[in-house]
Amino acid sequence: MSKKTEHPMSESPLMDAARAVREKAYVPYSDFKVGAAIRAPSGAIYSGCNVENVAYPEGTCAEAGAIAAMAAAGEYRIEEVAVIADSPAPVPPCGGCRQKLKEFAAGDVKVTMATTDGKTLTMTVAELLPGAFGAEHMERG
Ligand code: THU
Repeated sequence: MSKKTEHPMSESPLMDAARAVREKAYVPYSDFKVGAAIRAPSGAIYSGCNVENVAYPEGTCAEAGAIAAMAAAGEYRIEEVAVIADSPAPVPPCGGCRQKLKEFAAGDVKVTMATTDGKTLTMTVAELLPGAFGAEHMERG
């Protein structure tokens, strides 16, 4: 019988993936590397880093990269999220990324934000994006 190992979130396999991919971030403009990782229902972990651009708005966030990797693998549900950056306090996903996560995650999905020195903050997708716009708002009565 297998036993599930419990980790503090800063040491979990999901956070390990976020920490590892963060090293790959392309950040010549902000010098602020972010790593994100998503666990899908299959158990697979998809990761992404921020990729900036000289035309600044064209840069993409770490969370967007992780979502793109998940979709490229043919998965479209998020069970858990980890985000890590070298920051004084855990860095929350930007507004756009909250909406992107909500597209694939139920409201109770946990998003753990971590600093590289081990501080963590865990919030749900619904807490991060209260009153979110969803497909149900486009249904006509
Ligand atoms: N960034 C992310 O990748 N994810 C977040 O959750 C917050 C911000 C990136 C975007 C940009 O490359 C850099 O951090 C500074 O804003």
